[in-house]
Amino acid sequence: SLHTVTTMPTTRRPGCPFDPPAELTDARRHGPISRYTFPGGEPGWLITGYDLARSVLADPRFSSRKELMRHPFFDSTGMELPPAPPGEFLLMDEPRHGRYRKPLVGKFTVRRMRQLTERVERITADHLDAMEKAGPPADLVTAFAHPIPAVVMCELLGVPYEDRGSFQEQIGAFHNGESSDEEQIAAYTAVQGYLAELVAAKRANPTDDVLSDLTDGDLTDEELRGVALVLLVAGFDTTANMLGLGTFALLRNPAQLAALRADPALADRAVEELLRYLSVAKMFMRTALEDIELGGQAIEAGTTVVVSYHTANRDPERFADPHVLDFQRRDGGHLAFGHGIHQCLGQQLARVEMRVAFPALVNRFPTLRLAVPADEVGLRPETADIYGVKSLPVTWDV
Ligand code: HEM
Repeated sequence: SLHTVTTMPTTRRPGCPFDPPAELTDARRHGPISRYTFPGGEPGWLITGYDLARSVLADPRFSSRKELMRHPFFDSTGMELPPAPPGEFLLMDEPRHGRYRKPLVGKFTVRRMRQLTERVERITADHLDAMEKAGPPADLVTAFAHPIPAVVMCELLGVPYEDRGSFQEQIGAFHNGESSDEEQIAAYTAVQGYLAELVAAKRANPTDDVLSDLTDGDLTDEELRGVALVLLVAGFDTTANMLGLGTFALLRNPAQLAALRADPALADRAVEELLRYLSVAKMFMRTALEDIELGGQAIEAGTTVVVSYHTANRDPERFADPHVLDFQRRDGGHLAFGHGIHQCLGQQLARVEMRVAFPALVNRFPTLRLAVPADEVGLRPETADIYGVKSLPVTWDV
């Protein structure tokens, strides 16, 4: 019989901060698709199975358009949802989406990636030096998890690293699930103002960065601002939370941590497994543009489907012992970067950041450990778009 989830769970099981909420893993046990009721009472669907998640994401009949989307946590009935502003292509379908994504793809060149790797290594070393010099304890989020993606965003946008303060704080307010509407609007306005100035500066005086490159094309200033915003929003908080939550997961899985320390060649697989296991970008929505038959169910045109990437990445039919963090795992192909036309544009960058940062951290501090009991580590609420730790108090022997 078809399982129904009536409200999106807002908590995880106590003591299991890395696992999807029990209601979602339960739903998967009943089958890859469940009925779901949105907060406004509208009918919807919830996908928790890996194969079905992939087929939704690969199917152009399922739309990413912002104005068609129902939100899993908030009642938006009766609200007029505006379409995504120019340039904000994450929430667009073809052909609008391709107008922005296509010119971007070629900008992530091998040369840029190499330069970026060197910058990431440098900034990582600098921040580990600073952490060591200041001595224990430290908040790993501010000392380590934030600075690394901040460098990458600065390089992409052609912003001096010293100017990162103009977006670093604000971007957090978009995703943390705790900022008020007013705070979010203020943050959005501040970032928009900043990006408007930045786009004008790059037009007047192009430098060697992705944003300047884009000024060669036919995108308007407004569109460039939108593209820059998507890069910032998609690239900063995601990676920062992978590094913060990922370190917490390493500290809670000492055998895996020891394996990574012992074998630097394990870094690539450790990163993929942390991506799968944590899936910080935990769910996205798609709306059926026509009546679609999916997993034996009839999805009506106009209905929104919630795809739980996290639960799909823990699907026991796809991954053996899915709830175990195992760097020796051979079954790749996780959905942590999505799938289909919206698959993460920055995934190679994100990998570079994590492959550099995790081994550098654990090798620099061989006695790294939590400075508070594990159950006192503050986690973002389930309503946050991106999951993670609020802060991570750590200590080590000197
Ligand atoms: C899209 C995850 C890092 C830029 C996505 C999507 C996921 C994702 C799941 C697909 C969303 C959907 O299906 O609708 C992540 C994770 C990251 C990360 C977990 C860190 C570990 C980055 C970085 C950048 C970036 C560093 C910046 C260069 C983007 C962009 C899109 C995207 C531009 C939209 C692509 C499109 O709509 O065509 N990301 N991302 N991401 N990501 Fe990432």
